[in-house]
Amino acid sequence: MSRIAIIPGDGIGIDVTHEAVKVMTAIQDQGVPLEMVEFDYGADKYLATGITLPDEQIAEFRDNFNAIYIGAVGDPRVPDMAHGRDILLGCRFKLDLYVNYRPCHLLDESLCPLKGKGPEDVNFTVFRENTEGLYAGTGGILKKGTSDEVAVQTSINTRKGVERICRHAFEYAKTNGLTKVCMSDKNNAMRYEGDLWQRVFFDLAKEYPEIEASHWFIDALLMQMVKRPEQFEVIVSCNMFGDIITDMGAQLCGGMGLAASGNIHPGRTSLFEPVHGSAPKYQGQDIANPLAAILTVGIMLETLGHPEWVPRLENIVRQMVKSGNVPRDMGGNLGTAAVGDYVCEALKG
Ligand code: NAI
Ligand code: MG
Repeated sequence: MSRIAIIPGDGIGIDVTHEAVKVMTAIQDQGVPLEMVEFDYGADKYLATGITLPDEQIAEFRDNFNAIYIGAVGDPRVPDMAHGRDILLGCRFKLDLYVNYRPCHLLDESLCPLKGKGPEDVNFTVFRENTEGLYAGTGGILKKGTSDEVAVQTSINTRKGVERICRHAFEYAKTNGLTKVCMSDKNNAMRYEGDLWQRVFFDLAKEYPEIEASHWFIDALLMQMVKRPEQFEVIVSCNMFGDIITDMGAQLCGGMGLAASGNIHPGRTSLFEPVHGSAPKYQGQDIANPLAAILTVGIMLETLGHPEWVPRLENIVRQMVKSGNVPRDMGGNLGTAAVGDYVCEALKG
């Protein structure tokens, strides 16, 4: 039995999570043992009580749940995103979810902005280091507000942190019969962290002789992703570069309406969420595209030991695109709930 903590969150997070839970229930009906428990963390709760996501709750997730599923957080009434930071970054750091997992599988040629590129060309997976780098929150401001002001943001790179994300990328490739892993950094300009990433990555590569380990500088990598995306199978990078790579990867596959993500610590309670935000202006209007949320269910189940649900859900989305049964942002006219219903029906078929 896998226990899943569901946090719909804010805005369209609520709408798309409703559909994702429908799909989890349909999958449960097919014999996958799941238990979903919903939690109301989000802007409403924060504004009413001041509670974001308490440490005890994170501990309960860690001890009593196998996964956390979040829709999206973010609300214009909380301009500093205080609750969102506690919920998303709180889980990421306190649960040590060091792997940010973003599959970039183009499901249909029509979804790709690149001329002449199809599903066989855009089919790679990105692993972004999720707990260190420039996003670790180390730094400070001196002489704030004066003309002598100094802002420092420090990039944290530990051997342990670099090694575990690189190893995860190699292990993923090995497990999935892939033969290419590309690491990206900027070691020509950022010499110290680059030096560590280079040594750790290429030393590890010796343990995986069947895998071709390669490297691009981050700027060149982004050019190559546009020019020859077919060369990539697995890409691994630091927190900030990974952030940029994954948004680009999402666009190559049809945009935010389809982008799924996992924040993972292998073997421990991990967090899954569609990449998009809470798009508050669309909340409750049956407009939001729930496909990213539904594909996220697939990678959650994959991580929980049921990898067959990734291709099953992707095949359904592929059929939807081929037949024009898609939500509005993808050029169709299915509402949020109708998309969820369509996927559930297709799962029965
Ligand atoms: P957003 O992803 O909510 O929206 C960006 C654009 O994409 C908008 O035009 C929106 O209408 C469209 N869009 C996004 N998801 C969609 C979907 N499923 N169906 C149809 N259209 C969709 O990003 P934005 O506007 O920058 O942020 C809105 C709020 O979400 C902010 O409070 C932000 O902080 C928060 N946010 C939360 C994230 C999370 O929970 N992981 C990630 C990104 C933003
Ligand atoms: Mg981002």
